[in-house]
Amino acid sequence: MLLSISDLQKDFWVRPGLGKPLTRVEVLKKINLTVAKGEIVGILGDSGSGKSTLAKIVLRLLPPSSGKIMYDGRDIFGFSKQETSLWRKKVQIVLQNPFRSLPPRRRVADILREVIHYHHVKNRAEEKDYIAQLLRLVGLSEDDGSKFPFQFSGGERQRVAIARSLAVNPEFLILDEPTSNLDLSIQAQVINVLTELRQKLNLTYLFISHDRNLAAYFCDRLVELKEGSLFP
Ligand SMILES: Nc1ncnc2c1ncn2[C@@H]1O[C@H](COP(=O)(O)OP(=O)(O)OP(=O)(O)O)[C@@H](O)[C@H]1O
Ligand SMILES: [Mg+2]
Repeated sequence: MLLSISDLQKDFWVRPGLGKPLTRVEVLKKINLTVAKGEIVGILGDSGSGKSTLAKIVLRLLPPSSGKIMYDGRDIFGFSKQETSLWRKKVQIVLQNPFRSLPPRRRVADILREVIHYHHVKNRAEEKDYIAQLLRLVGLSEDDGSKFPFQFSGGERQRVAIARSLAVNPEFLILDEPTSNLDLSIQAQVINVLTELRQKLNLTYLFISHDRNLAAYFCDRLVELKEGSLFP
């Protein structure tokens, strides 16, 4: 198994009202999930069921309350500093709203270049070709690099966000409702791009959605998060 989540639990302490005592909310209760290399696993669930919380824990943006996550045979919470910085490249997330996740005042090529520099993916001599290659990979053209995010349609903007997540050569993508802001026809285009990319780049996906039909079409396997537990 590439990713293996065992008995993962996450509680939040929240104050239900002004002056009320803190109470523990169990958002995830003993979650178990495995994802094989190359697989697309879909996680369904209502709003507030804990899908993004699970994604954040896998990305190591949030610590779990208890439980274990193994990736490629290694415990992701036991990583060394060096392994952690590798992890930041191996696993990427694509969010629902690229208007919010892309910096509005930067040209697309600069947005990509920033990631390439930060993670030392390519040197200056190689970066121009690499940016063109990334844009073509998601069905955009090299010229689109000189545009700003607002100059694209919603679907194209999501392609830019996908190109940015691919810039670091990831192995595993968490797609957190990547198409839920898009019209149906555009949704299908983005899904097709993602399907192609998985083939070309040997990617593995965790696809978070509340659209059962779309998830059933796109994913190899579906699970549903309900009241803190996963149902097959
Ligand atoms: N940092 C936090 N502190 C307290 N409670 C939180 C925190 N983050 C999330 N929650 C709560 O955990 C629950 C799950 O939130 P989460 O964002 O994971 O849901 P989701 O399934 O992604 O929902 P959506 O489909 O709307 O994106 C919600 O009740 C939310 O209020
Ligand atoms: Mg969410």
